[in-house]
Amino acid sequence: MTTDLCTLLNINKPILSAPMGGAAGPDMVATVCNAGGFGVIPLWGKSADGVRAGIAELRALTDRNFAVNLNLGFDYADQLQACIDARVCAVSLFWGMAPEAIERAKNGGLLVMSSVGSAAEAKQAADAGADIIIAQGWEAGGHVWGQVATMALIPAVVDAVDVPVVAAGGIADGRGMAAALMLGAQGVWIGTRFLASHEATIHATYQNSILQAQDDQTEWHADLYDVTWPNAPHRTLANATSDAWAAAGRAAPGARPGEQEVIGQRPGGGDVLRYQSYTPLPGTTGDVAAMSMWAGQGVGLVHKVLSAADIVSEIDTDARAIIAAQAAAFR
Ligand SMILES: Cc1cc2nc3c(=O)[nH]c(=O)nc-3n(C[C@H](O)[C@H](O)[C@H](O)COP(=O)(O)O)c2cc1C
Repeated sequence: MTTDLCTLLNINKPILSAPMGGAAGPDMVATVCNAGGFGVIPLWGKSADGVRAGIAELRALTDRNFAVNLNLGFDYADQLQACIDARVCAVSLFWGMAPEAIERAKNGGLLVMSSVGSAAEAKQAADAGADIIIAQGWEAGGHVWGQVATMALIPAVVDAVDVPVVAAGGIADGRGMAAALMLGAQGVWIGTRFLASHEATIHATYQNSILQAQDDQTEWHADLYDVTWPNAPHRTLANATSDAWAAAGRAAPGARPGEQEVIGQRPGGGDVLRYQSYTPLPGTTGDVAAMSMWAGQGVGLVHKVLSAADIVSEIDTDARAIIAAQAAAFR
């Protein structure tokens, strides 16, 4: 299955591993790239030197193309310059719309992937020169920019722009990929499914919770967890923290039950507070299940931990088989 997106990114499987804060490190990204997909490494929390080091670390693991994910909610200028200087294949911009960032990245020779939550935003990004639109539906795990569900968003975005569209949100297997391609997407951007990979850098309790969760056990919250940038709605697994907060009347930040309570420790030291935005990493101690366990609605489709390479291969094989079978059935 080769799409224009594959040609643009020089990949043979149009499957992108989504950037996922601390959960998608160089091992996962390199494994996806080496398996014929395309990995996106989140380096937005780093200094410019950290971005340079992160790119070098990844390049030691793969000679394939990848993208660096930057957060427009923070000052990204030096990070973007580091990507330009390092001549990475692509930069992925999320959380907002910044035509000037798109133009600067383009002038620096990078492909630009712009994450959007609506057709109007997609048009704005494409008009500013974005090469690839990442359309993230409301089903998605982690920080959720838009309010439109994937099924309605993808065709609307495809109609609005002339550049390749990649579908994100709720896609966890070959069926989801086949459906996204039928809606006009040229590739898929998958997060939650890759949390159940050997390469995901998350705590075993978090990974087991992903395996056990059903489709109706994620929750979208406007501001339950204290995300480090403003206005950052998010989707997580329901847990003791969200249950107690709901039972107490869904109070606003500042009045939630158990504010400032220490519920664990980070692997390198430092408290984890209840309601803190913190991806539970391996080595975290304490009540890990009460921490912010980001996940999308596709979590109910995730049943086993595989290597990221096997996930890419399985989804690609299944999507091809489904599309071929459907084509035959409707002849
Ligand atoms: C644990 C986690 C962390 C995330 N962190 C980021 C991030 O750093 N940058 C970003 O652009 N998106 C982030 N996202 C959103 C994903 O890139 C992607 O849009 C989403 O996972 C797609 O939906 P899915 O989880 O249903 O596959 C995160 C998602 C998860 C689950």
